[in-house]
Amino acid sequence: MTSTAVVNQKGGVGKTKLTINVGGALAETGARVLLVDLDPSGYLTDALKVAPADGFTLAEALTSSRRARVEPVRHSTTGAGGVLDVLPNTAAMLTVARELDKLRGREQRLARVLAPLDGDYDQVLIDCPPTLDVVTDNALTYVQRVLIPVQAEDTTLKALQLLLAQIAAVDEFLRTDPLVLHGMVVSLLRRPASVYARSVLADLDRLAEQAGLPILGTVPLSVVVTEAARHGRTVVDYAPTSHHAEVYRALAQTLETAR
Ligand SMILES: Nc1ncnc2c1ncn2[C@@H]1O[C@H](COP(=O)(O)OP(=O)(O)O)[C@@H](O)[C@H]1O
Ligand SMILES: [Mg+2]
Repeated sequence: MTSTAVVNQKGGVGKTKLTINVGGALAETGARVLLVDLDPSGYLTDALKVAPADGFTLAEALTSSRRARVEPVRHSTTGAGGVLDVLPNTAAMLTVARELDKLRGREQRLARVLAPLDGDYDQVLIDCPPTLDVVTDNALTYVQRVLIPVQAEDTTLKALQLLLAQIAAVDEFLRTDPLVLHGMVVSLLRRPASVYARSVLADLDRLAEQAGLPILGTVPLSVVVTEAARHGRTVVDYAPTSHHAEVYRALAQTLETAR
């Protein structure tokens, strides 16, 4: 089982859509995939139109003093034998960060919740909230690697520096082995790219080099992404021959071949 956090404390950079569609592309190849919706807004849960889970919610399991088993919800299965499951989120997650601050092992809670599911999945993708809080720290403590969607904007570089500092702190204090910086994905890119976007991309290239954080691909703006979500489906399923399906398959491939 390999695990990846899709993380960036900036909102609206494409985390949720990337998690869903890379997850769909992984399932298409036959992988058993679990998507964890860690954002209190629950946009991933909504976009995939999954029903609430039976039993404990993620919020309850994270704050419970006992080991509480959470049950993922099946979104779909694929012809290749893959599955796409979701650990949905509820509004109760809104207060979890505050509650965790009072609890022991507050950064290791997600690892405890997900441990019993380890053998059931090949790939776990975590859709992080748009904050660098204790909930995000839980994801950064649990996963093996991070996938960072970014937009071609000036604010991106500052946000990335903050995120890399947070990752360094988590490596220092909470992990035994350092997080693997799997790479960045340039999201929501308007085509053709403007002169401005191209100059930001050049800056990003430099940062990618310096930080050892490769740019893995580009997801242009497209209605196919929002249309698929409107139907509760992934892009590879909804529009299998689209350019975007190919983009998500290529990104999924980078996760499958990573160590
Ligand atoms: N490639 C894309 N083309 C068009 N719209 C997109 C694309 N990716 C994301 N969006 C839209 O942009 C907004 C932000 O994306 P989202 O994945 O929710 O970002 P985040 O999770 O980082 O807040 C959403 O309304 C989403 O539907
Ligand atoms: Mg989101």
